[in-house]
Amino acid sequence: MNVNMWNHATTQENVEMLRARGVKIIDPAEGYLACGMTGAGRLAGQEDIVAAVREVLKTQRDLDGETVLVTAGPTCEDLDPVRYITNRSSGKMGYAVAEAAARRGAKVILVSGPVNLEVPAGVERIDVRTAKEMHRAVVDRIANTSIVIFAAAVADYRPAEQRAEKIKKSDAPLTISLEPTTDILTEVAKNKGQKIVVGFAAETDYVAENARKKLSAKNADLIVANDVTAEGAGFDHDTNIVTLFSRDGRDLALPKMSKSEVAQRVLDEIVRLRSVLHGSAALKRSGV
Ligand code: CTP
Repeated sequence: MNVNMWNHATTQENVEMLRARGVKIIDPAEGYLACGMTGAGRLAGQEDIVAAVREVLKTQRDLDGETVLVTAGPTCEDLDPVRYITNRSSGKMGYAVAEAAARRGAKVILVSGPVNLEVPAGVERIDVRTAKEMHRAVVDRIANTSIVIFAAAVADYRPAEQRAEKIKKSDAPLTISLEPTTDILTEVAKNKGQKIVVGFAAETDYVAENARKKLSAKNADLIVANDVTAEGAGFDHDTNIVTLFSRDGRDLALPKMSKSEVAQRVLDEIVRLRSVLHGSAALKRSGV
């Protein structure tokens, strides 16, 4: 672009905002411009562009050699052949995490409840419907995983009885009895060994207190908490506002950002925790 346009305060403020959001900017080169003026505004040299792209791709292969299991989406708990209990999870957050982990070099297994999303490139998806099926699929695939991320909104209760026939209407009130499902995260985290276990917490109040409580009660290494009542956060949005609560005591409050950016920040925190929790093993694995 023209040098004055590039140096204009509005352009520079916008570029700064992008940099602050983590966007990598390749600055224009200086020299003779198509408009006849001289200054900054020329397309950067091919070598500079290739070097910058290489640098970005390099930092994104930090999950090479890891096997990551991600749960995503809601579960559906059947009452009878036509009715079920579910929740408003879209699966977007879990799918964004699975996609980002695959891009960063991990082998990714995505155990997914019913959602309306494409399988991300390079990800193996296992479709499940109920909390029980999700639990089984996770147990079956957990053995060789090194990082487990529970982004699914698993039903905490299911109908105590699943009727084979449709429940008929009558004038009397109907009471449905519910029984608790297995907490998959807690079950896995009990015997997690060297695995890094990450949970999500969707809260409506006392977000920090509830998240820290979940971190220790569930024996997790990281809890990604969001206030689902906040504007631009939670179910079916493309953005989220989360705070990351880590086992080593760090609280990282992130501003509103896209779910893919949140996914990258969650993976950054996992990579940091990997070296804090078992530093030498992680360094050995990465060949340093
Ligand atoms: N989770 C799970 N299996 C369940 C319920 C929850 O694996 N049966 C996982 C979720 O995937 C999430 C974390 O546990 O990563 C937190 O779930 P949440 O429902 O927020 O926590 P609960 O312990 O169920 O507490 P509450 O619903 O009372 O907030």
